[in-house]
Amino acid sequence: MFLAPLAALLALTSATSASYHQPTHINYTVVPGIFLQDDPSTVASGFNFTATNFGLINQTYPSDTRKQSTQWQRLAKYISSLNSKCKSNERYTLLFLGRHGEGYHNAAETYFGTPAWNCYWSELDGNSTVTWADAHLTTTGTTQALSVNKFWAHLLKDEKITPPQTYYTSPLYRCLDTAKLTFSGLDLPRHSPFVPTIKEFFREGISAHTCDRRSTKTYIHKNFPGYKFEKGFAEHDPYWTALHAETSTDQDIRSKKVLDDVFSNDDSTYVSVTAHSGEIASLLRVLGHRVFGLSTGAAIPVLVKATTLKGEGPATTTQPYTAQKTCAAPPTIRDSSCNDCSCCT
Ligand SMILES: *[C@@H]1O[C@H](CO)[C@@H](O)[C@H](O)[C@H]1NC(C)=O
Ligand SMILES: *[C@@H]1O[C@H](CO)[C@@H](O)[C@H](O)[C@H]1NC(C)=O
Ligand SMILES: *[C@@H]1O[C@H](CO)[C@@H](O)[C@H](O)[C@H]1NC(C)=O
Ligand SMILES: *[C@@H]1O[C@H](CO)[C@@H](O)[C@H](O)[C@H]1NC(C)=O
Repeated sequence: MFLAPLAALLALTSATSASYHQPTHINYTVVPGIFLQDDPSTVASGFNFTATNFGLINQTYPSDTRKQSTQWQRLAKYISSLNSKCKSNERYTLLFLGRHGEGYHNAAETYFGTPAWNCYWSELDGNSTVTWADAHLTTTGTTQALSVNKFWAHLLKDEKITPPQTYYTSPLYRCLDTAKLTFSGLDLPRHSPFVPTIKEFFREGISAHTCDRRSTKTYIHKNFPGYKFEKGFAEHDPYWTALHAETSTDQDIRSKKVLDDVFSNDDSTYVSVTAHSGEIASLLRVLGHRVFGLSTGAAIPVLVKATTLKGEGPATTTQPYTAQKTCAAPPTIRDSSCNDCSCCT
């Protein structure tokens, strides 16, 4: 006698979920012509984002009025006009993607050379004097982040830039610290203070390097008490696996996932992400931005148009991590012709 109501309930549940869970997916494109970095003629190597007003191109927009005096104020007006005129399934968001300052792992790679680093030293936690597992910033890295802090202070005061409304960071120490040094002490609006959310999938491409293994949640919380953790953030790193690496296809799949998560749950128009060279390269691929390599401590703004479309997105298949070769002793070769560690000595 209990079967009938249960069946009715099940039917109702499935009808409800069918009508509420129409599959949709988000398609990202870059709005071109806003920043020098999205212009194919701009050379990434040596590009100085602080000397060029973040790369913002000087121009007039159709939305200009006499009320905006700076280029950043006119851009803000333009973005708000795009958002008020677009279709309900479209939105425009300005992402500030920042790479961490130099970490001990970067300095060690330079010191040992890439083959010896990749095939031997990077798999260790450090040497007798330096630790590079979940690397901290070097003094150079700290200086880089503090100079970006000065740049933001200038942008806020003189360029009247609209600051990020939300902040995200990779869970790796060098990013947590870079975000703190970059955005602390700024004259930020009361309604959007610097309270970053740590998101697992903004982390660096997972490799056999110990610099890609994060610390525990307890340790992170102790060192960055004001930061928020995304829901479900585990105590121990669930992703890093000794001597294994995720493929770049998989990295792009989870970069899309974390962007989808941000775009589905955060309606901010100005969003800051502090991450890594490899991860920002992956995010740029997912967004459809051209390749634009960042040096340590550099940042890139991207005006994104996100369109929610009906139906499932293109099918993706994640692959298992691949086993990484290493050498029993550091190879002596210094040039990067030894990516596969075939030069063990
Ligand atoms: C970039 O430009 C700024 C301002 O012009 C300058 O202070 C800084 O040293 C430059 N950075 C690099 C890496 O050349
Ligand atoms: C825009 O113009 C200002 C001066 O009005 C200049 O300092 C700046 O470098 C220009 N930016 C670009 C990207 O050309
Ligand atoms: C450990 O590695 C660092 C490179 O980051 C190097 O500067 C230092 O000299 C090394 N220590 C020893 C004892 O070799
Ligand atoms: C989806 O985005 C890509 C670029 O990332 C673009 O080439 C394509 O036209 C977009 N598709 C639709 C249906 O908007």
